[in-house]
Amino acid sequence: MKVIGISGSPIAEGNTDTAVRAVLDGARANGAEVEFVRLYDLELAPCDACDACTAGGGCVIPDDATDLMARMKDADAFVFGTPVYWYHVSGVFKNFADRTYASYHHKDFAGKRVAALMVQHSLGAEEAVALFNHWCEDEQCTLVEAVTINTASRPDATAGDAGLLARLRRLGERL
Ligand SMILES: Cc1cc2nc3c(=O)[nH]c(=O)nc-3n(C[C@H](O)[C@H](O)[C@H](O)COP(=O)(O)O)c2cc1C
Repeated sequence: MKVIGISGSPIAEGNTDTAVRAVLDGARANGAEVEFVRLYDLELAPCDACDACTAGGGCVIPDDATDLMARMKDADAFVFGTPVYWYHVSGVFKNFADRTYASYHHKDFAGKRVAALMVQHSLGAEEAVALFNHWCEDEQCTLVEAVTINTASRPDATAGDAGLLARLRRLGERL
């Protein structure tokens, strides 16, 4: 069992990273092999809608998405974490989601399980939750749980909340 956690926050080890890592900790405690990925550390160009993938091939943009998509295909579950920016996922996370257009067409991720974490000051996660619902339906994945975390923009809001961390670890165990 392999679980990949993917964070779309620019803040290293901030609330989003900490939340994703907590879910991975739970999965690891249940015997999973886990990997943590920060999208901001990767070279990920925007989808250019060339439609090569809709014609049957894979994504033809030569950057870090090629390797990431291969590792995702090899995994059994994903933990997606994003800060809420302007009532939605972060731009970098949306860019990543766009780059999964090939897997949508080829159903590369069918059957995988997903945890989605929205990390916000206080409001606006609904459209991010909607994206994850649509993404999981279209990619034929199971959305195990979508968790919204309110931080009031305190850097240690997640790390300092033992109850939340325990909930996130339990979610990881269920993946
Ligand atoms: C560009 C930008 C847009 C934001 N938009 C929202 C928003 O719509 N709603 C909200 O509650 N917080 C918003 N925030 C605050 C972040 O979601 C919040 O600080 C969150 O804790 C960030 O997670 P992090 O600690 O992992 O960086 C925004 C922050 C930035 C930088």
